[in-house]
Amino acid sequence: MAILPIRTVPDPVLREKAKRVPEIDPSIQRLIDDMIDTMHDAPGVGLAAPQVGVSLRVIIIETPEMEEPLCLVNPEIVKVSGERVVDEGCLSVPGYKAEITRSLNVTVKGLTRDGRRVRIKASDDLLAEALEHEIDHINGVIYTDYLDSPDQLRRLEPVGSDEE
Ligand code: NI
Repeated sequence: MAILPIRTVPDPVLREKAKRVPEIDPSIQRLIDDMIDTMHDAPGVGLAAPQVGVSLRVIIIETPEMEEPLCLVNPEIVKVSGERVVDEGCLSVPGYKAEITRSLNVTVKGLTRDGRRVRIKASDDLLAEALEHEIDHINGVIYTDYLDSPDQLRRLEPVGSDEE
């Protein structure tokens, strides 16, 4: 396991549409382990493979309420509904936060690291926000894309621990 460098804007890998994982082989298991180490080290509540320079559809999330990281391979949004305003940050945009609108209810499907099909439902919590945030990453989208102006970014001092 290893702590990998986190890519930050304007690294072009963050803007690619990541490729689906064809098979969960040992290289994917290693990637997931390295992503978990990297997220814990940052620290952050989520990480997508493009943030460590790997353009594959793999995300991990670990909110303070979770006992272990949630790893999703080839995750897809099944359904969203409602809206709420959240205060969001990103490890790839270090030192900043901004308020954006996210969905209230989020349902996602994908594969666990063991290749098991799962469906995750989240509502009005950090998990719901992180699911949308990390799936945005594998589609080349960064939360700052939702801002009307860069002036809406707030400088943090020091860097908070709830970045994704
Ligand atoms: Ni992020």
